[in-house]
Amino acid sequence: MLSANFSTAELVGQQAAWLKAYRPGMRIREQGKVVSIGDGIAWISGLPMAAIDDILAFDDGSRAMVFDLTENQIGAVLLHQTEQLTAGSRASLTGRLLSMPVGDALLGRIVDPQGIPLDDQALPANLPCQRLEIKSPAIVERDFVHEPLYTGIKIIDTLVPIGKGQRQLLIGDEGLGRSSIALDTVINQRGKDVRCVYVLIGQKRSKVVNIINTLQDYNAMDYTTVVVAEASGLPGLQHLAPFAGCAIAEFWMHQGHDTLVVYDDLSAHARTYRELSLLLRRPPGREAFPGDIFSVHARLLERATCLNAAHGGGSMTALPIIETKQGEIAAYIPTNLISITDGQIYLDHSLFVAGFRPAIDIARSVSRIGGAAQHRRIKEEAGRMKLDYLQYLELEVFTRFGARVEASMEAAIKRGRVLRELLKQDRLAPLPVTVQLAWLIAFNDGYFDDIEPEAAARQFDTLLQHTRHSKLVLDSPRAQWSELVAHSLATTRQQQTP
Ligand SMILES: Nc1ncnc2c1ncn2[C@@H]1O[C@H](COP(=O)(O)OP(=O)(O)OP(=O)(O)O)[C@@H](O)[C@H]1O
Ligand SMILES: [Mg+2]
Repeated sequence: MLSANFSTAELVGQQAAWLKAYRPGMRIREQGKVVSIGDGIAWISGLPMAAIDDILAFDDGSRAMVFDLTENQIGAVLLHQTEQLTAGSRASLTGRLLSMPVGDALLGRIVDPQGIPLDDQALPANLPCQRLEIKSPAIVERDFVHEPLYTGIKIIDTLVPIGKGQRQLLIGDEGLGRSSIALDTVINQRGKDVRCVYVLIGQKRSKVVNIINTLQDYNAMDYTTVVVAEASGLPGLQHLAPFAGCAIAEFWMHQGHDTLVVYDDLSAHARTYRELSLLLRRPPGREAFPGDIFSVHARLLERATCLNAAHGGGSMTALPIIETKQGEIAAYIPTNLISITDGQIYLDHSLFVAGFRPAIDIARSVSRIGGAAQHRRIKEEAGRMKLDYLQYLELEVFTRFGARVEASMEAAIKRGRVLRELLKQDRLAPLPVTVQLAWLIAFNDGYFDDIEPEAAARQFDTLLQHTRHSKLVLDSPRAQWSELVAHSLATTRQQQTP
């Protein structure tokens, strides 16, 4: 280093030392050339050392990821594209794989799948980086799902419960409320020390804005990161978005935190992957999807798990969303996802139009492992309620034909009708778990039996107010809960009597 007022001798001395240390050598640097470009992909010649997933840099500053290798050319998906990128541009290997910044600085932020902020504020420098695709935790690092993750939605928390580390599919036709369930679940994690990542893949700008605004309005951004790859963006980014969201949550999971990731939605992701694969001339399989789409989704969802105490005890719960066409769950992508996940919540069109919302079809929804994580008290009460509901669904079929039924059956049908009203729930109104227990006890003890179905919502509200202010916890004795229920519902009846 030269001082501010250096002398000529000093300068000459420095130069001489530099020359003495200089050793001529050869540095081999491969250089490729863009052969053609379009639809978010580039074909490049040269670069014989390139491998799948390598990041390429172009001389105009654009970037791409190697996606396909043929004998003479490389197919790459663009991650960043400037207007100067044309056929003939030079490309070189960066020697890096795709990674993104992770850590607490991402809470409350909206980023793209490369970690570039989309909310007009820079991210702090020197954040830890995580590779977008890493191996999922080994079996020995995992624990059984044993803790519940409450969604605040009556039907789910009682009948299709989700555990921390579970992968639960939200499946249904367009516009039946899949995103609403995911949003409610995120909003319900407020104050529960669960970090959330909401990944928006291939959605229209209006929906993206809507979801972000809702998260902000319900103060959910404090513990949430939103990863956005819009429909109008590069397909390469849409393909990477779920992996980016997973990487963010994975970092927290390995630090011992509980996390929740929503992939909204993987149908759009599969379509983008199909588009890229067809453009890169990979052989199409069923429904023109490439054969490895199953492994892409399985790799992604295998990373959601519950780590054992020796590995920090963190967890990643995944809520992938899938769209069906006309309720067809036997299509390729839905069947794939159903087999990969630990259960599904199925939304039904006829229930939605009949005003039963959330339109969850209980008969077709299942949680294969969540029951083990459900609180003992909720499980007991929900089990009794479920029997009544399933019986009602069977009996209801008779009433459709106008058949006369005996008195006991009529009572069961009436009870079922009230239950159906009780299970309805507005969006953005998640309930505390104590309220779930209270209404289950009230129902099982027959407190809703002598009311008309139309009055169920009002009765429920009263119970809600009383339970919210009560000090009882899930483990409190049942007698105390029954007392609370009796007291609160008796008050309403007194108020109703003129
Ligand atoms: N529990 C609910 N109660 C009343 N309305 C609801 C409920 N859940 C969803 N909706 C309504 O259903 C519509 C669709 O909801 P949402 O956007 O969540 O569905 P989606 O399946 O994600 O749709 P898309 O296919 O557009 O992504 C919205 O207008 C929403 O207000
Ligand atoms: Mg949606």
